[in-house]
Amino acid sequence: MLHFPTSGRPALVLAPMEGVTDAPMRAVQSERGAFSYCVSEFVRVTGTVLPAKVFLKSIPELRSQCATPNGTLVQVQLLGGDAGLLADSALVAVGLGAPAIDLNFGCPAPTVNRHDGGATLLKYPHRIAEIVARVRSAVPKHIPVSVKMRLGWDDTSPVLENASRAAAAGASWITIHGRTRNAGYQPPIFWGPIGEVRKLLWPLPIVANGDIWSLEDFKRCRDLTGCEHYMLGRGALADPNLAPAVAAELGLHHGLPSHGPFGAAPLDWLHLFERFLAHTPDRPDRSLLVARRVKQWSSLAERFGEVRWFAEIKRLPDFECIASTLLALNPTKQ
Ligand SMILES: Cc1cc2nc3c(=O)[nH]c(=O)nc-3n(C[C@H](O)[C@H](O)[C@H](O)COP(=O)(O)O)c2cc1C
Repeated sequence: MLHFPTSGRPALVLAPMEGVTDAPMRAVQSERGAFSYCVSEFVRVTGTVLPAKVFLKSIPELRSQCATPNGTLVQVQLLGGDAGLLADSALVAVGLGAPAIDLNFGCPAPTVNRHDGGATLLKYPHRIAEIVARVRSAVPKHIPVSVKMRLGWDDTSPVLENASRAAAAGASWITIHGRTRNAGYQPPIFWGPIGEVRKLLWPLPIVANGDIWSLEDFKRCRDLTGCEHYMLGRGALADPNLAPAVAAELGLHHGLPSHGPFGAAPLDWLHLFERFLAHTPDRPDRSLLVARRVKQWSSLAERFGEVRWFAEIKRLPDFECIASTLLALNPTKQ
């Protein structure tokens, strides 16, 4: 069964990544049944309560029980600094079928931070508390309201107070990316403080996140945090075998089909990209759009994974060109 984090029942979560884990990517990533649920890219709340159409555009799964085509639930993530607008917007999302709300206190983007959103809130624990409390009381009790945060703005110490405040205000679980805002995405990752939060707030579920690129990383992260729940972002894209391997290690059997190990040959990637294409709505520029996304994905898999053919496709204009190049690269065809 697919599920949200609860104590005693591990969950593996697909990270929200704005501009990367959109609906077609969520569909492909959830296809092998490794993820317990996905989190949507952030939906920004600024100046006004968001209308339904904004949610439906960003999270088309809302039209189908807010689940990916294989039935994996999608949690709706909101980003903003105005507790009242966030609460009212959360209510709109829930009215459309959002099964859970997540609040983003981690985004490091300067534009977002300048407009009182994302990681800026880490400097104001009382505001985190107020936002969580307002959203929590706005939506029905059976809808979880969770928080995703970084360790702090420029040092790691605020995480204990921020997480405690979020917990006291009613957060259903807390996902922690083991970096400060100022660290951006630079190594090193600090998993240790996530473990301290877990101990302090037990039995509140804490989801550990950041720089899990391999099964070995996952095991080290588990040793350091002692967490039951994990979130994978870039690592899941760079290595399509990672999420199934971590799910198996967590003892997760979601009852969904697993397609066996993924071979890393160009043809195997092509099959994956074809799944992405199949999940992308038909429109005149679909081939160009998918080509752009496939290049984004391959570049990540080259940087952090085993892909060695990114240079061969990075200047190709459309999906057809990429497909025929990957076919030609396939060793069994040569
Ligand atoms: C391109 C990109 C976009 C992201 N967008 C979001 C977002 O919309 N919401 C959010 O909470 N985190 C966002 N993140 C952070 C990820 O969810 C995650 O916390 C981070 O990438 C660390 O996990 P990883 O090392 O497994 O990728 C984003 C990260 C990247 C790289």
